[in-house]
Parts: sequence; C-alpha cells; structure tokens
Amino acid sequence: MAQPLLEVRDLRTHFELEDGVVKAVDGVSLTVRRGRTLAVVGESGCGKSVTARSILRLVEHPARIVGGQILLYGDQPSDDPLDLLAAKDKRLRQVRWSEIAMVFQEPMASLSLVHTIGDQIIEAIRLHGGVGKVEARHRAIEFLGRVGIPDPKRRVDSYPFELSGGMRQRAMIAMALSCRPRLLIADEPTTALDVTTQAQILDLLQDLQQELGMAIMLITHDLGVAAQVADEVAVMYLGEVVEHGPAASVLSEPKHPYTQALVRSVPRLGQRGQGRLAAVRGTVPPPYERPSGCRFHPRCDAFMAGKCDSTVPTRVRSDDTDVACLLYGEEER
Ligand SMILES: Nc1ncnc2c1ncn2[C@@H]1O[C@H](COP(=O)(O)OP(=O)(O)OP(=O)(O)O)[C@@H](O)[C@H]1O
Ligand SMILES: [Mg+2]
Repeated sequence: MAQPLLEVRDLRTHFELEDGVVKAVDGVSLTVRRGRTLAVVGESGCGKSVTARSILRLVEHPARIVGGQILLYGDQPSDDPLDLLAAKDKRLRQVRWSEIAMVFQEPMASLSLVHTIGDQIIEAIRLHGGVGKVEARHRAIEFLGRVGIPDPKRRVDSYPFELSGGMRQRAMIAMALSCRPRLLIADEPTTALDVTTQAQILDLLQDLQQELGMAIMLITHDLGVAAQVADEVAVMYLGEVVEHGPAASVLSEPKHPYTQALVRSVPRLGQRGQGRLAAVRGTVPPPYERPSGCRFHPRCDAFMAGKCDSTVPTRVRSDDTDVACLLYGEEER
C-alpha cells in the first residue's frame, strides 16, 4: 500500500454561535496516500466541506479549528511531517497551491471576476513556482489546453463570465494543477455540471493524476463517482469518519450500518450518473444535538439498546477496513 501523504487526526472544527456550539467536524481521522485517490462521501451537512477547508486552515469566524493534527509528509520517508495546524502562516501559504491545491464546487466563488483566467493562473504560478512572466503564461496556456479548453492561446485572455460552467471548472482545475501540487483537494468538482461534462472532468482528473503522480482527495455525495475513481473511501457521518478502507471493500462489502444503508440507497452502483444518494431511513439530527453513544444509533437498523446509545464506538480494524461500530472488533476492545 502506498505511503501516506496526508494524515488528518482527530480534527475538530466547531462553529461557535450565540445559540450554542455546532460541532460540524468532531473527530475526523483520514489518510490520503501518495498518488492515490481518497473519496470522502456522506450525506449533506456531515462536514465534508468543513473538513476540506480546515486542512488548509481556510475556515473563518464563527468556525474555529479546536483540535487535531493535520500531517503532511515530505518527499523523503525520513522527513518529519509538517503539522499544518501548527505551521506558521508563512509556511502555510507556501503549502497552499504549490503542495496542496483546492478546487471548489462553485468556481465563480473562487475565481476573480475582474481578471482574465490567464492572469489568475499566471499569478498563482508566479507566486509559487518562482518562474518569470513569459514562462508562466506559457505554462498557463499549456494547462488550459491539457484540461480540454479549446483554443487555449485565445481563451487565456477570457474573463470567467465568458466561459460556460464546465469551462470555468476546467479553468479552476488548470489553475490548481499549474502549480503541480502533490495533493489536489476537489470539493464536489462536478456536481454543478451535466453528466457528460462531469464524466469528462473525472477522466481528466484521472489522466492528470497519472501524469503528475499527485494524490486526490475527492469530496462527493455521489457513491457512483466514488466507485469509479477512488482507491480508498472515507464515509462521514455527523462530523466523523465512521468507515475508511479500500474502495472495493467499502463499496461492495460495507461494514458500518450507515455505509450499508448508503450503498443500498444507490441503484446500480458503479454506473456513471446513477449514484446520487437516495434517503437513508430517518433524518440527520439537528446540529446542536449529537445523539449519545454512537451518533448513528437513532437511524440504525442494527441498534442494540443499552449499548449503542451509551457507548461511543472507537474505530477498529476489521479485515482491511477501519470501522467505528460496536458490531465490530470486540476482541480488539
Ligand atoms: N456558516 C455556518 N454557520 C453555522 N454552521 C455551519 C456553517 N457552515 C456549516 N455549518 C455546519 O457545518 C455542518 C457541515 O457543513 P459542510 O458544509 O461541511 O457539510 P457537507 O458535508 O460539505 O455538505 P454538502 O454535501 O451539502 O456540501 C453543517 O451541517 C452545519 O451544521
Ligand atoms: Mg460540501
């Protein structure tokens, strides 16, 4: 198995609101391996985006990272990992884009409207790549071509509003990849796009991954997408990861009752565009109230009274998967 590149350990990001504390991310642990793809899946509101933003410390008031470690490993196995949560701001700015780049769901929110696509990519490259203007423009055009934007020599001087949604998303990906990051975090990069464009973008990401050897953390609530591209899957529920393992195991022999319910709710899993989550029984509880014991117990088909509502399950290894459920790992406890 490939070495870890990024390890998130017990990450906690809370929203400190007047009415109380929303523990949006409350004990997330996950691993992205070198050159591999980790898909992070789970219902809306389970904390996927807050986790992603916390990795680069891009959370803003009233959100606050209150605990955990985010370890980024160096190229040499002997290098000490860098804890992104403890790193100085200056060091973190070096890490952003050049080591870890991020693509957001809505590219308009992260692209400047008053600058051309080209100028924005050139600025990102120059800020992090230490190359001159001419070389940076050359690289911008090269990457726009690689992500499938036709006539990149002309398009480089377009403004975001002159491009279609799919083209803007491609431009965002070009911008992220032009700094040749070791890790790309892509938060629902294709959700806003039609099925054909979605498939093209996913293929593109996989091609570029092979070519550049980068790791990808792909956030999606589409299990079909996860089945198609992921090497490993992390399943999130109410601010924590309840199951983490090889994609083939997690998606075809899910262990956690929550993952089982998710997988059951997907017709013909594995077919492109068919994987959007249908409902799991019950609803996600309100954010201020976390159920006692196992957070999933009020919705769980395997609920054991007197046990699941009082004991917090820790994550244990079962076969090749880590799972946080009291059905597993009695002998390890
Ligand atoms: N600005 C905010 N103020 C208060 N709480 C917030 C805010 N933003 C997010 N949250 C809380 O954080 C939780 C996690 O949000 P997050 O955006 O990470 O979910 P998600 O898994 O990315 O969902 P989706 O699939 O819809 O994108 C939400 O359920 C909400 O309770
Ligand atoms: Mg989200």
